[in-house]
Amino acid sequence: MKPTINISKIDRCSGLSNKEFYNTYVKNSLPVVISDIAEWTTSEKFTTEYFKANYSHLTRTIDGKTYSLSEIIDLCESSTPENKAPYPNIYDLHKDFPEYLEDIPLINYGKSNRLSSWMLPNSIANQTNQRQLFFGGKGCSFPTLHIDYHWVHTQLTQIIGEKDFILYPPSQTPYLYPDKINHNLSQVNIINPDSDKFPLFKNAEPLKITLKPGDTMFIPSGWWHTTYIHNFNLTYAIDHVNSFNWNRFMDENYLVAQKHHPNLAWLVKVYKVIMGKIFNINEKLIQLN
Ligand SMILES: [Fe+2]
Repeated sequence: MKPTINISKIDRCSGLSNKEFYNTYVKNSLPVVISDIAEWTTSEKFTTEYFKANYSHLTRTIDGKTYSLSEIIDLCESSTPENKAPYPNIYDLHKDFPEYLEDIPLINYGKSNRLSSWMLPNSIANQTNQRQLFFGGKGCSFPTLHIDYHWVHTQLTQIIGEKDFILYPPSQTPYLYPDKINHNLSQVNIINPDSDKFPLFKNAEPLKITLKPGDTMFIPSGWWHTTYIHNFNLTYAIDHVNSFNWNRFMDENYLVAQKHHPNLAWLVKVYKVIMGKIFNINEKLIQLN
């Protein structure tokens, strides 16, 4: 992975070519918001009325209680910080809304997504090869500053409502006190930081941006982030793995294999090297096309 360049703000772009996106942001590990590539978000299929009329059979059990999608939507619409809707409300497109898969185009970068390749076995890709919808309401947030699981890149598109993002580049990791066991989670409560316990946190400089409906944000692998929701919210997310985060992604998979299948974990290391080379050649061909 390329070293991250220090930046003072997150660019918001329109008219960005795939080449510019790849060369400026992906290659330099920089987040960016692209505001003109998600016209699909205005389709009636992404309205609460449509979801309620056609998908109320979908249920989620959160904290031991089961809710229909209609109930989740109603609770998110009336959510307040004092009386929060159940959270997180995550739906998998492949499983819950398979007919939506064609409505949401992959950006060019997504075409080189190793997670969706037949060459990556399900045992490795399963946890991360997901295209998800997140419903939320006022006061609902994923509260912990984190790096996404297995160092994947993430692409998020805001469909309904606005969502604040707070990001920190990988270079600021020493100020964010990663958890000793779950090293992708920060120990710092960034709303109310304990300066005695985490004295270096005062040096951390966040980048903040608000996603509006139709915005798509690319968060490169290794960037710390968390979100805040101020109103009814629907967000789409997809993970990516390519040459930039392949080694880190596979190293995480090696650790998992070592835990569950210690005798076979070496296979993951061999796969990382051999398939990494094959994927690289394949992606070069995609870039040329
Ligand atoms: Fe995340």
